[in-house]
Amino acid sequence: MRSVLVTGGTGLLGKGFEETAPKGVSIVSVHLRDYKVPRGRAEHVSLDLRDKRAVEKLFAKRRFDAVIHAAGIASVDYVERHYAESLESNIVSTLNVTAACRTRGIHHVYVSTNAVFDGTDAPYRESDATNPVNKYGRLKVECERLVQETLGSWTIVRPILMYGWNRTVTRPNPATWIHEKLMRGESVELVDDVRENPLYNLQCGRALWAALRRKPKGIIHLAGKDRVNRWQFGLKVAETFGLDKSLIKRVDSSRFPSIAARPPDTSFDTGRMRRELGIAPMTVEEGLRDMKRHMEAGA
Ligand SMILES: NC(=O)c1ccc[n+]([C@@H]2O[C@H](COP(=O)([O-])OP(=O)(O)OC[C@H]3O[C@@H](n4cnc5c(N)ncnc54)[C@H](OP(=O)(O)O)[C@@H]3O)[C@@H](O)[C@H]2O)c1
Repeated sequence: MRSVLVTGGTGLLGKGFEETAPKGVSIVSVHLRDYKVPRGRAEHVSLDLRDKRAVEKLFAKRRFDAVIHAAGIASVDYVERHYAESLESNIVSTLNVTAACRTRGIHHVYVSTNAVFDGTDAPYRESDATNPVNKYGRLKVECERLVQETLGSWTIVRPILMYGWNRTVTRPNPATWIHEKLMRGESVELVDDVRENPLYNLQCGRALWAALRRKPKGIIHLAGKDRVNRWQFGLKVAETFGLDKSLIKRVDSSRFPSIAARPPDTSFDTGRMRRELGIAPMTVEEGLRDMKRHMEAGA
């Protein structure tokens, strides 16, 4: 593996992927908006993946051994309210990137999600039937299908809810959002009826590198060890960062009637991740402690 393209490289997942890169691999990282990303391990390029000609030009100019395709609108609530724009962002981008991989025989790792499940029968294995409860889940199922039906060499990874430290311009994740609110002394309402085994973004990065090395065909679930609800996760954030737990209010989903439906429990079975990628899931405490170390080191 000498050269890898990662799309959505400024996102939380892309950051985890870049930070865990092995030596000697060159990484081109694509994002959408026109801003300068400080060069780390990757060369950052601003490019709209909905633009087929721009995608073809990139692949014609550079040679990639593999592609991690993670770009697209990934906010569940944004997708629910702006479906046409989100379809274009995710489906058209995936069409363009898969086409470029197909014609060149490049291994494609598509980044999907736990939102493909309805959350009524956890823990979920890779072979379980998908049944999304919101528009975001539906469009990711379509992208998975596109990858499976049009490519010869592919892996689909499904990361679950992710958290981690991302200093670049990006949307907040559960840990940074709770941390910021508690630091400001604001109260936080967290639901106790949505449950996952959350994934630390650097662990996700290591799993992606293992997927590139081993190229397993099929779907692989990526998740952490602890199955927690959002309220329990918030308490762990407060404990790890020494913040005031009493600001965290326990509520249920009926408190937020206007947001997109969430599947109640999409926790993953991580057997395939352990066996085929050689990655042992981290506890929430281990992930948060590592995140704190990175924040304090100014990384
Ligand atoms: N975060 C989670 O908890 C989670 C959980 C499960 C699955 N996933 C999946 O993991 C992947 C990455 O998620 P994330 O949370 O890291 O994403 P994110 O933080 O929302 O970042 C999205 C990335 O996609 C780029 N992008 C969006 N539209 C683009 C376009 N048309 N052309 C080029 N780049 C474009 C953005 O660029 P800009 O920076 O320029 O906007 C950014 O780099 C997604 O596929 C998501 O579905 C995420």
